[in-house]
Amino acid sequence: MSENNDFLPIDGTDFVEFYVGNALQAAYYYITAFGFQPVAHAGLETGLQDRVSYVVQQDKIRFVLTSSLVQDSPVAEHNKLHGDGVKIVALWVDDAHKSFDETMLRGAKVYSEPKTERDEYGEIVTAGIYTYGETVHLFVERKNYKGPFRPGFVKWNPGYTQPRVGLKYVDHMVGNVGWNEMNVWAKFYQDLMGFKQIVSFDDKDISTEYTALMSKVMSNGNGRIKFPINEPAEGKKKSQVEEYLDFYNGAGVQHVAMATDNIIHTVSELHKRGVEFLRVPGTYYDTVIDRVGVIDEELLILKELGILVDRDDEGYLLQIFTKPVQDRPTLFYEIIQRKGAKSFGKGNFKALFEAIEDEQKRRGTL
Ligand code: FE2
Repeated sequence: MSENNDFLPIDGTDFVEFYVGNALQAAYYYITAFGFQPVAHAGLETGLQDRVSYVVQQDKIRFVLTSSLVQDSPVAEHNKLHGDGVKIVALWVDDAHKSFDETMLRGAKVYSEPKTERDEYGEIVTAGIYTYGETVHLFVERKNYKGPFRPGFVKWNPGYTQPRVGLKYVDHMVGNVGWNEMNVWAKFYQDLMGFKQIVSFDDKDISTEYTALMSKVMSNGNGRIKFPINEPAEGKKKSQVEEYLDFYNGAGVQHVAMATDNIIHTVSELHKRGVEFLRVPGTYYDTVIDRVGVIDEELLILKELGILVDRDDEGYLLQIFTKPVQDRPTLFYEIIQRKGAKSFGKGNFKALFEAIEDEQKRRGTL
């Protein structure tokens, strides 16, 4: 699709909002462990009665951590059902009304009608639709806004920061959906949002001796938004996608991939600050160069840090995955550095899923 006849042009990821049990402590985690900077805050002090939010940012990645202050609220309900997780994947658009109308016309389910909010910095227009599970896409039009985040929020300066670790933008965000639902949601992105399928993996591509899954990668017109959609596949044992669905009580965001220009620096810092990563067996590094050819990085350092490598026709990529970042084995992060490659690390799937199975075994959920 050319960008001209894209009925839903998207400039990028605007923010990712998490509903969590304790937003203040979650914000501290992202600041301390991942090097996000404090940006904005809303809560009792700004007139909210039922919830509190903290906004943190690193380069183009903006996270909002939100908790309920009351027993009964949509945030409390969400947290009770799903644990900590992604509620809103906000998409930055030039025209929120049009984005909403185009998707509603094609059958989207409304989350929030178009709404204009104003403060001394200007105005923001938002409108939201549901995607898989209880997850929401919020269209955010901020071309007439100059404030720190959005009306209703004030600048947040807790007097504490840590250096950034070099995370730059959201590369892709993966959704886990239920049995036989991958095609339903691939079609949702295609028909309602004008996305195209750029890759498809079947259970032969993504399987180990014990578990399997399938995946389709959907991309918007200009390629800035990429949403792989996973569903479980039959295997001898319970796959990581089923484990996710059990603990999350349904479909939701499985991982957020954040890009860096220097994965060795980024991952070294994250290690130092206590972020835990999945480890593949050391033997992975015995054959990796045969598979991917010459790379700029020193293999020993990659091995030490547990960074994986894969190559496609256009170049190579380096990637690593954290363990789940909350109590339930649900959401985790990927750190990725692309050196030409536009793919998702197919060559690493097997080693990776075996590493996840080891973790599942320890949790008793394999
Ligand atoms: Fe990924």
